[in-house]
Amino acid sequence: MRTNIVHIGAGELNYEIRNIVQVCERLQKMGVEINWENIGDPVTKGETVPAWMKNLVSEAVQEDAAYAYSPTKGMLATRQYIAEGTNSKGGVQIDADDVIFFNGLGDAISKVFGFLKRTARVVVPTPSYTTHSSAEAAHAGAEPVTYILDPNHNWYPDLEDIENHIKYNPAVAGILIINPDNPTGAVYPAEVIRSIVEICEKNDLFIICDEIYQNMTYNGTVAAPLCTVIGEKVPALCMRGISKEMPWPGARCGWIEVYNSHKDPMFDMYVQSILNAKMLEVCSTTLPQIVLPRIKEHPLYHSYLQERIERYEKHSNIAYDILKNVKGLLVNKTNGAFYMSAVFEEGILNSQQFLPIDNKDARELVETLVSGPGVEPDKRFVYYLLASTGICVVPLSSFATELHGFRITLLEPCEEKFRKIFETISECIQRYLESA
Ligand SMILES: Cc1ncc(COP(=O)(O)O)c(C=O)c1O
Repeated sequence: MRTNIVHIGAGELNYEIRNIVQVCERLQKMGVEINWENIGDPVTKGETVPAWMKNLVSEAVQEDAAYAYSPTKGMLATRQYIAEGTNSKGGVQIDADDVIFFNGLGDAISKVFGFLKRTARVVVPTPSYTTHSSAEAAHAGAEPVTYILDPNHNWYPDLEDIENHIKYNPAVAGILIINPDNPTGAVYPAEVIRSIVEICEKNDLFIICDEIYQNMTYNGTVAAPLCTVIGEKVPALCMRGISKEMPWPGARCGWIEVYNSHKDPMFDMYVQSILNAKMLEVCSTTLPQIVLPRIKEHPLYHSYLQERIERYEKHSNIAYDILKNVKGLLVNKTNGAFYMSAVFEEGILNSQQFLPIDNKDARELVETLVSGPGVEPDKRFVYYLLASTGICVVPLSSFATELHGFRITLLEPCEEKFRKIFETISECIQRYLESA
């Protein structure tokens, strides 16, 4: 190329949750049966989509409007429905104009960070859901600026760390909160969110709050919606979607709710630039926007969601009870979403440890994959676990963190199989740590 065509942030784009799939596919061809515990898609994991939901989608498919472009911000009736839902919580009041639809939150995230001035930074959590941290890092062409989620304190944000970033880095313009969190499964108490809002108010910052798992909490916890805590001063973008809750990830449908945008003209212009970018694309997927209120208002929706949440709660407790006593491993009980992050004690992993792999081809593949320089020790564990048992989890180090561990989902619908998976992991960790 006569000129460099690679984006300054290209090196920051990494999505191990999907990268590992390529390794799994090679192992499958070698005869290894895979248990997919890597990706947060309830449908792929075998949860059945209820017939009444499919019927609502089938009915909408008969309507010509479902085949048309929708307005750039999204279908008006659906935006009104969403605004009413937010207003009914009794906090900040919005109207349909404050709601903008995207092709899934993945699309929203790439625009929200992509249209931020390159030198302005948003502090993201560590560990971090990679779509956020990579998009933020790519926009800046630099490593993400991260604040600590503390595994020794239920994975809650370290507020002092947030304040220090703001104090010593004048480029910080905003803070990202994911509540309930991916990859940790933590649910933050309202006081934590309130403190972050106060920090933002004091320092003239904005908030991005990802609430895609908002309605999926258990073990007696509730995720306080940002709209109830934000007050009237701090500008914020709240992200929600249907991928997890409905669940309908293949619909590619999510939205942002804009809070207090008129309180800051620069924030207002920034939101307008995101909307203009969406306008160039015309609009987002129409069909799920038409169906969204119909599904959420269906008499069976609440009990269907409740049933799933009860299963996640049960699985969260089974997983915690099995892993909590594993020597060298730190786990917290998952209270929301459907992920658990386990952390290895510092320094406990090395580059000699292994698990026996009966399949010769699989063993050779893994030995090659982990032999190169710079392979994180938790990635080595994850690959050995994968080839030895077929269980596919994601190395924690791929979630923008220096911690070593793994993220696993709680999605396996069969309780017996779920229990077996966690017992196998527990045995494998002990074996792995004793191997060298
Ligand atoms: C915290 C969080 N935000 C956003 C997304 C992406 O959602 P969507 O399917 O709407 O792109 C995910 C997907 O796993 C997620 O965990």
